[in-house]
Amino acid sequence: MATIGFIGAGKIGSQLARLAVKNGHEVVLSNSRGPETLAGLVKELGPRARAATAVDAAKAGDIVVVTIPLKNIRSVPVEPLAGKVVVDTNNYYPQRDGHIAELDNETTTTAELLQAHLPKSKVVKAFNHIYAASLTTEGLPSGTKERRALVIAGDDRDAKATVARLIDQFGFDVVDAGPLKEGWRIQRDTPGYGPRRNAEELRRDLAAAKRYAAR
Ligand SMILES: NC(=O)c1ccc[n+]([C@@H]2O[C@H](COP(=O)([O-])OP(=O)(O)OC[C@H]3O[C@@H](n4cnc5c(N)ncnc54)[C@H](OP(=O)(O)O)[C@@H]3O)[C@@H](O)[C@H]2O)c1
Repeated sequence: MATIGFIGAGKIGSQLARLAVKNGHEVVLSNSRGPETLAGLVKELGPRARAATAVDAAKAGDIVVVTIPLKNIRSVPVEPLAGKVVVDTNNYYPQRDGHIAELDNETTTTAELLQAHLPKSKVVKAFNHIYAASLTTEGLPSGTKERRALVIAGDDRDAKATVARLIDQFGFDVVDAGPLKEGWRIQRDTPGYGPRRNAEELRRDLAAAKRYAAR
């Protein structure tokens, strides 16, 4: 069992924390307003959960999930995350995040931006293409026919294996899209972004994805 730190405890963070606690992990939650604003969620999650500052959540986690609006990733603490597996759930919505030139001209991807901010961490893109509510309703035991699959992408093989084990434990098959730079294949407006897909369908969606400029 691991301690999972959360930078962000909104729709996705709280849902992943529920799955983590249900599966026996400890969670340390943080947000932008301070630990006292997370009292209700901590109470709901029970004794395996506590709230902290973002720095303390980053320090405490064996694995740390960054799940905040993309525009705020530069505030994610860097040093406490050195050497750690960092799960990146983030997506780019210009109307929320403002325009980010490197994403608009597709010279990088969202998870590569977080990796650039955290050069000593092992960033794995995951949980970005499933609606928050579905995380706790669509999971099924390993081996179930037509089980829903979720994509990972990352540059570190061991880090990806760690996150893949977590996803399997949370109730989903895993499809590896390759390195972080392939993460665009599951970004907003691609075929696999949102709908329920099994592993075979998701692989097909990844292959069919087109960059914005190619549409
Ligand atoms: N919602 C979905 O179904 C979904 C699905 C897949 C991926 N995503 C992506 O996952 C990310 C999180 O989405 P969400 O829907 O969970 O967002 P959300 O409900 O708006 O929650 C965002 C969380 O991030 C916290 N936060 C914001 N800035 C922060 C900072 N600088 N440091 C620490 N915490 C900070 C917020 O805390 P405060 O409330 O205190 O500000 C809040 O807890 C986004 O990039 C989103 O695009 C969302």
